[in-house]
Amino acid sequence: MLKIDNLTVKVLDKTILENFNLEINDGEIHVLMGPNGAGKSTISKVIMRDLNYEITKGSITYNDKDLLKMNTTEVAREKISLISQSPMEIEGVTNAEMLRTVLNDLNEMPANVLEFNRNLVKICQKLNIPESFIHRDINYNMSGGEKKKNELMHLFVLQPKLVILDEIDSGLDIDALNLVANSLKEYYEENHPSMLIITHQPKLLEILKPDYVHVLKNGKIVQSGDYNLALEIFKNGFGASIMSRNDLHE
Ligand SMILES: Nc1ncnc2c1ncn2[C@@H]1O[C@H](COP(=O)(O)OP(=O)(O)OP(=O)(O)O)[C@@H](O)[C@H]1O
Ligand SMILES: [Mg+2]
Repeated sequence: MLKIDNLTVKVLDKTILENFNLEINDGEIHVLMGPNGAGKSTISKVIMRDLNYEITKGSITYNDKDLLKMNTTEVAREKISLISQSPMEIEGVTNAEMLRTVLNDLNEMPANVLEFNRNLVKICQKLNIPESFIHRDINYNMSGGEKKKNELMHLFVLQPKLVILDEIDSGLDIDALNLVANSLKEYYEENHPSMLIITHQPKLLEILKPDYVHVLKNGKIVQSGDYNLALEIFKNGFGASIMSRNDLHE
């Protein structure tokens, strides 16, 4: 279980998140929505221990372990994965090399290398990406949509228990979006991970049917609800949804 308690985060002396709270139990799907610049990607990077972000207050625990004491590798060992909004290109390291190294580190590399290769081929076929991607440098010279699918390939191999998806749907064509959404649904049904989904689009949520939806504004969660809150936002925008909340509190 992920528990974020009263977290305040700064970058270059600017406060980006303030007293941010979020709890994600095992198997729950949470969605974080909010206007551009609200701090959504920041929270995903803070969980992965990106040291550009200074934590000035609060805590993050995962299964009662202090995430703030871990580095990015240790967070990955806890089986937490982020597909980031702008996946990094790594020239000189292939997907297969990286995945083999990580699985070895987790003691999860199949003893039989053929089995590892067969699994990668199967995943490429599922995601409709060329098998040649297996031996391409990580995200290097890939199109925006290809990078997202390439990162999803990593996810299917590494099988995280907490999956963070930061706008995985941006840059995907309509067929790719359907395929990615349905593949994620299949992953959820097989593995029951916890999920934190950041999105501005309805499609993924139509298919994944989240348990909770949160609206982040000015570094704080200002409203939480169920899937209907997302539907309301897609229809009326953030202004209306946040205003109706204020009305409720008057
Ligand atoms: N490394 C950084 N250095 C300086 N400012 C940053 C950094 N990271 C984030 N910010 C600032 O923090 C704020 C929140 O950024 P963040 O990327 O978390 O927004 P977001 O909610 O993900 O927006 P979007 O919907 O556009 O992706 C922005 O004003 C951004 O400019
Ligand atoms: Mg973002």
